[in-house]
Amino acid sequence: LVLILDYGSQYTHLITRRIRQLSVLSLCISGTSTLDAIAKLKPRVVILSGGPHSVHAAGAPSFPDGFIEYAEEHGVFVLGICYGMQLIVQKLGGVVAVGEKQEYGKMEIAVPEGEWGFYGPEAIGGHQTVWMSHGDEAVKLPEGFTVVARSLQGSVAAIENRSRRFYGLQYHPEVTHSTQGMETLQHFLLDVCGVTADWKMQDVLEEEIKVIKGLVGPDEHVICALSGGVDSTVAATLVHKAIGDRLHCVFVDNGLLRYKERERVMSTFQSDLHLPVTCIDASEQFLSKLKGVKDPEMKRKIIGREFICIFDYFAEELEEKLGKRPTFLVQGTLYPDVIESCPPPGSGMTHSHTIKSHHNVGGLPKEMKLKLIEPLKLLFKDEVRKMGNILNVPESFLKRHPFPGPGLAVRVLGDVTEGNALEILRQVDEIFIQSIKEAGLYDSIWQAFAVFLPVQSVGVQGDQRTHSHVVVLRAITSEDGMTADWYYFDHKFLVDVVSKICNNVRGVNRVCQDITSKPPATVEWE
Ligand code: XMP
Repeated sequence: LVLILDYGSQYTHLITRRIRQLSVLSLCISGTSTLDAIAKLKPRVVILSGGPHSVHAAGAPSFPDGFIEYAEEHGVFVLGICYGMQLIVQKLGGVVAVGEKQEYGKMEIAVPEGEWGFYGPEAIGGHQTVWMSHGDEAVKLPEGFTVVARSLQGSVAAIENRSRRFYGLQYHPEVTHSTQGMETLQHFLLDVCGVTADWKMQDVLEEEIKVIKGLVGPDEHVICALSGGVDSTVAATLVHKAIGDRLHCVFVDNGLLRYKERERVMSTFQSDLHLPVTCIDASEQFLSKLKGVKDPEMKRKIIGREFICIFDYFAEELEEKLGKRPTFLVQGTLYPDVIESCPPPGSGMTHSHTIKSHHNVGGLPKEMKLKLIEPLKLLFKDEVRKMGNILNVPESFLKRHPFPGPGLAVRVLGDVTEGNALEILRQVDEIFIQSIKEAGLYDSIWQAFAVFLPVQSVGVQGDQRTHSHVVVLRAITSEDGMTADWYYFDHKFLVDVVSKICNNVRGVNRVCQDITSKPPATVEWE
């Protein structure tokens, strides 16, 4: 196991992912975790991440007392990256100072002749482009450390103390701008630390199935809310493989789904995945509660509350049918959610400021006292897709764009029940998405959808004056939805899609494109 101690760098997740791409399991925990928490995981290698701090700042985060002794006693290899390297230098008796020049961006480093921890034979004697991002630098190394590589400007880029197994990189090997970063990590982990590359998704899957079989007693039952998204579908399919029809899934039609969504996802659940799913049509219940409500937060809260009611109802019905209460709940929680719920101290990340109260259908019924099964909680999204592939979840399903829990309610601005807003939006959205698919663009776009505005504008259609609705098309590229860029369509694509929408959807005479990134906008309009 490679354990990453997180000191708040924006690249920490990336280190975890890169190492997994080398078929080595890596986990990330807070940089200020206790020695006990670290030791419990029995890491072969510990990586100290970068971070926004200076090691001299008051309250700068660090590893726990006794960590160095622990590492040496147990033969653990320690690699510091950027801030992590400065921590090693400072804690082992060297000197870190504010650099003469700050180094941000691409730099050239020279790798000298010799046998080094980071560089395999093919890299020796050459130059590499690396990604630096630091203000402080190591000006005096602790005793026993050697400078392995320097930037062409002369600053320290890589250090090592082989006998004590401490290593440091001032640059970020995990970002793609460091052209040989992956080779560097691979050489270090596999050849120097002797880690074996044997972490395979098939093994992860089999291990999870074994764990779930052991966890759920032979007469216990499990429930799961399916949203139609990748995570809950893969989680349910996995649990179903472990315990069969003692899993009971529910899919709720809240009246806020996309065009033919219910039919499409139910058919995948039943025909392709053979999941035991009950579909509850609660559209009238949701829409009657949303009637007249314009405030976005209020809409989200109502939807969240209604969902709990339906879920409760489902659990009660099940109890009646089975003669006993289900005891477990499956959730499609992913690894980034786990890490983000315990941000490293001083990282500036906080969850106290609600921009939007996100609602994931699987995450609601806390008061039901169900025990949790979270089979994906160590995986990133792309790894969930890989697991889905092994479980034969159709590719088309695994590549679907994300869809928010509150559905079209956050895409019809204002009162969702007014006029035929939802129906118009469904038709526009369907034309937009089908056009994107036909143009072969679906997989290059992270998320695309239409928005309905509660305003009317004047137009002319077939020599007639019209006073009809305005819709907005939004398509973005993103890594994880936290930040986003708008997607650039070519002129012809836009001309065709606008004409298809205006010719086919009654009640629309104007189509706009949203070209705002996030920030300052959010992805959804509400
Ligand atoms: P925002 O609008 O916050 O969206 O920039 C970022 C990503 O999150 C999705 N989103 C949600 N997902 N429940 C969800 O499960 C929600 O309440 C919710 N609100 C937004 C959004 O579609 C985008 O992918």
